[in-house]
Amino acid sequence: MMSTGRSQVWRRRSGSTLWLRGGIIIFIIIFIWVQISFIDFGASVPPYPDYNDSQAAILSMVPVVLHKFLAPKPKNGTNLGLNGSYNNLGYFKATFNISDIKRSIAQYNLQQTVYNEDLFGPLQNDSIVIVIQIHDRITYLRHLIVSLAQARDISQALIVFSHDYYDEEINTLVQSVDFCKVIQIFYPFSIQTHPNEFPGEDPGDCPRDIKKDKALQLKCNNALYSDLYGHYREAKFTQTKHHWWWKVNRVFNQLDVTRNHSGLVLFLEEDHYVAEDFIHILRLMSKTCSDKICNILSLGTYLKTYNYYGDSKKKEALRAKQQSNKKIVEVQPSWTFQVLPSLYQHPQKVEITPWISSKHNMGMAFNRTTWNEVVKCAAFFCKYDDYNWDWSLQHISQNCLKQKLQAMVAKGPRVFHIGECGVHHKKDNCGSTAVISKVQQVLRSAKRYLFPEYLISSYAAILKKNKLRKGNGGWGDHRDHKLCMSMTIT
Ligand SMILES: *[C@@H]1O[C@H](CO)[C@@H](O)[C@H](O)[C@H]1NC(C)=O
Ligand SMILES: *[C@@H]1O[C@H](CO)[C@@H](O)[C@H](O)[C@H]1NC(C)=O
Ligand SMILES: *[C@@H]1O[C@H](CO)[C@@H](O)[C@H](O)[C@H]1NC(C)=O
Ligand SMILES: *[C@@H]1O[C@H](CO)[C@@H](O)[C@H](O)[C@H]1NC(C)=O
Ligand SMILES: *[C@@H]1O[C@H](CO)[C@@H](O)[C@H](O)[C@H]1NC(C)=O
Ligand SMILES: *[C@@H]1O[C@H](CO)[C@@H](O)[C@H](O)[C@H]1NC(C)=O
Ligand SMILES: *[C@@H]1O[C@H](CO)[C@@H](O)[C@H](O)[C@H]1NC(C)=O
Repeated sequence: MMSTGRSQVWRRRSGSTLWLRGGIIIFIIIFIWVQISFIDFGASVPPYPDYNDSQAAILSMVPVVLHKFLAPKPKNGTNLGLNGSYNNLGYFKATFNISDIKRSIAQYNLQQTVYNEDLFGPLQNDSIVIVIQIHDRITYLRHLIVSLAQARDISQALIVFSHDYYDEEINTLVQSVDFCKVIQIFYPFSIQTHPNEFPGEDPGDCPRDIKKDKALQLKCNNALYSDLYGHYREAKFTQTKHHWWWKVNRVFNQLDVTRNHSGLVLFLEEDHYVAEDFIHILRLMSKTCSDKICNILSLGTYLKTYNYYGDSKKKEALRAKQQSNKKIVEVQPSWTFQVLPSLYQHPQKVEITPWISSKHNMGMAFNRTTWNEVVKCAAFFCKYDDYNWDWSLQHISQNCLKQKLQAMVAKGPRVFHIGECGVHHKKDNCGSTAVISKVQQVLRSAKRYLFPEYLISSYAAILKKNKLRKGNGGWGDHRDHKLCMSMTIT
């Protein structure tokens, strides 16, 4: 999920020693498992190629007809009668004022234009609807689109691009998608369109770290509503969860094009990347998964042992040291060593397991049957003091659903996370495409293992109840609870 992983680490408070012990045991088991996989893998697969992550190399892995999605065309804005300026790359950036943006958004949301319907025909029940939540990281989005374009059967899908940031360059890119049906929806309560008022940051709001008695004295807007950890609202951390709830409600219960759709809806984010057999796998999984076994599918497995850069810098540095004369940049991230063998060894394996937010939030799919149950528990989502949508969904699962979320998880992941930095954690290396290059290489090496004819499912051994006691905070403000509830459509 967009950057929540890292933020959770900051916010989560340590549990009891019981937890710690459980953690250590799990760690040891995983550690042993990794060793075993690693040995197996070393025996069965040739050594790694040297990765080359130059722009030219990345482009060379993309079919020429798809280069257009990666290479933005400078536009001559003065022709369009728009005010704006050219940036240093020669792109025209129109400067919209907020009322213009709001008007534009309202129009898009009202018109619900489905692009390419004339080419690909109306949506069928057995078509897959792919919903992509987008903020502003266009470089990653370009690569996600390239990966989608290469997926088999994509022409039958509908992609719903759900935006919380209005940008002409993103619009142009999205509207240039020509390999399937496309619709755009815009989250109407974004920070972009509410810069000085709720849900953005109101100048009258309490500062995050102020003490409650001080806040009451100050009479700032939300003085009464600090979170579990005594902190006041930070607008930028609340948007992702609001947007998530809004878009799922809208897709299932509001958009004309999906209103009668009873098939699968897959949820992706702008910094994901899909394998070319992901629709094939979803179909197989969907056939295998029935009400009694599972109600949610997951295409991306976070193997606990690999970290995408997040908190793994130290480990990487250590590994670099161990490899003595190599510099850090030359050392491959450890996760490639995990993804590859899991794709080689388990291309057709799926596991049935209770849905766990931090493990199964990537490339998640479910249908209306599941959603109808989830949406009945809106209050558990909207009033739970946790700013992460996935932890909030887990809260629903554990405390409200008659039948908990039970996931079928692809052991060889079909969705990858290519965003090195989260939405709100701008870092110098955000533009880096190293991970993209690696995912390309992993998929190329695993190509002949894709498209399995059948699936082999197994039940995960359940170690311990994964019970959340307390939320991660960041969601104590009653205005957030209210806004979230107001977006619920039943
Ligand atoms: C990376 O690939 C590009 C294009 O294929 C090539 O021109 C370049 O020399 C390669 N760089 C390295 C370090 O191999
Ligand atoms: C943009 O178009 C205008 C009018 O057609 C022209 O005068 C101007 O030179 C063009 N600018 C660029 C950067 O192409
Ligand atoms: C462009 O700027 C002019 C003057 O600054 C203003 O009158 C006009 O409304 C602006 N146009 C748009 C589309 O913002
Ligand atoms: C935004 O631009 C429009 C013209 O396009 C203008 O009528 C309106 O006053 C502007 N609003 C603000 C807040 O600048
Ligand atoms: C899809 O299935 C639902 C329920 O099974 C049905 O009501 C609906 O008409 C179907 N829609 C299409 C487009 O086939
Ligand atoms: C959805 O179903 C309703 C009632 O059956 C029907 O009136 C409507 O036209 C359908 N919409 C689409 C987009 O198929
Ligand atoms: C929706 O998914 C459930 C499993 O969660 C399955 O049992 C059901 O048949 C699916 N509904 C349709 C209409 O495909």
